[in-house]
Amino acid sequence: MAKFFSLNTGGKIPSVGLGTWQAQPGIVEEAIITAVMAGYRHIDCAAFYENEEEIGLALNKLFEDGVVKREDIFVTSKLWCTEHDPEDVPVALDSTLKRLQLDYLDLYLIHWPVRLKKGTSLSAENVIPSDIPSTWAAMEKLYDSGKAKAIGVSNFTCKKLGDLLDVARVPPAVNQVECHPVWQQKKLRSYCESKGIHLSAYSPLGSPGSEWFKNSSVLSHPIITEIAEKLGRNPGQVVLRWGIQMGHSVLPKSTNEVRLRGNLDIFDWSIPEDLFAKFDEIEQVWTPRGHLFIRADGIYKSEEELWDGEI
Ligand code: A2P
Repeated sequence: MAKFFSLNTGGKIPSVGLGTWQAQPGIVEEAIITAVMAGYRHIDCAAFYENEEEIGLALNKLFEDGVVKREDIFVTSKLWCTEHDPEDVPVALDSTLKRLQLDYLDLYLIHWPVRLKKGTSLSAENVIPSDIPSTWAAMEKLYDSGKAKAIGVSNFTCKKLGDLLDVARVPPAVNQVECHPVWQQKKLRSYCESKGIHLSAYSPLGSPGSEWFKNSSVLSHPIITEIAEKLGRNPGQVVLRWGIQMGHSVLPKSTNEVRLRGNLDIFDWSIPEDLFAKFDEIEQVWTPRGHLFIRADGIYKSEEELWDGEI
C-alpha cells in the first residue's frame, strides 16, 4: 500500500495525516514534534482550530533541528467561513502562513460551503448566503501564486461539488469530509472518483469522546472489534487501514504518543479480502454535522437542506 495518493495537480498527498482539531494549544506543539519524529509527514490544520501558532512553533523547531525539511512535510489548512469574501481570502491565507511560519501551504481548503458574517462567531444567526464561485476564484489566484500548491474544499456534497466544477478554472484537488466505516460516503466517494477529486477523511475514528458527535460508535462496532481481534490489531488501526485500502487519506487526531505511533503502523499488513468485505455489512449511520449552521428561519433550515438531501 502506497504511503501517498496522487492529486489532480500532479502532486501527492500522504495517506495518513495528523488531525489537529480539538488538539489543545498547550499540548499540540509537543504532539506535532512527537508525530513528525514518529514518521508523520502530513499535518491537517485550520484557522478555526485556534492552534496554528503552536503548530508553527513545532514545525519551525523541526526544520531548525534538521529533523525534516519543509518539502518533506505536507501541510493543509482551511479558510474559515467568515473569510469567504474574495478580498478576505488572500489575507486569511497570509495570516495562516504567518501563524504556521510557512511561506506556502501544500493544500488550502474552503472549510465549509457556508458563509458567516465577517467578524461573527459560529452561530446559525450569523449565516449569510454564500457565493462559492467568487470565493473559489480567489482560491484559484492563491493556487496561481504558488502560496497554495493545491486547493480544495471540505464538507461539500456531490451537488455542491458539481456546482463548483461547473465554474471552476482549477478543479478542487480534495474534498475533506467525515468518513469512517459507519459513514462510508459511498455516493460521494464514487462521485469524487469520477471527477478526479481525492477524498480525505476527517474523524476517521468516528471522533470517540468528542462532545460534538456523541453517537459515533465506530471503534466499538462489533464487526470492527471482531476484525481487529482476528488480525491482532487495535480497532483504530483496522479502521484507518480500511480507509487507505478504500483509497482515501485519513486524518486521525491524537495527542497521545502510543496512539500516534499505533495509528501510523498500518502499512506493512492489510485487511484480507474476506474480512474487508464485512465492512459492507456495517449499517450506515449519518452523524449530524454542521448543526450550528442550521436554524428554522435561517439560510439552512434543516440538515437535509445543508447536505442537499445527500444524507
Ligand atoms: P487522543 O488524542 O487522546 O489519542 P478522530 O480522529 O476520529 O476525530 O478521533 C480522535 C479521538 O480519538 C481523540 O479523542 C483521540 O484521543 C482518540 N484516538 C486517537 N487514536 C485512537 C486509537 N487508535 N484508538 C482509540 N482512540 C483513539
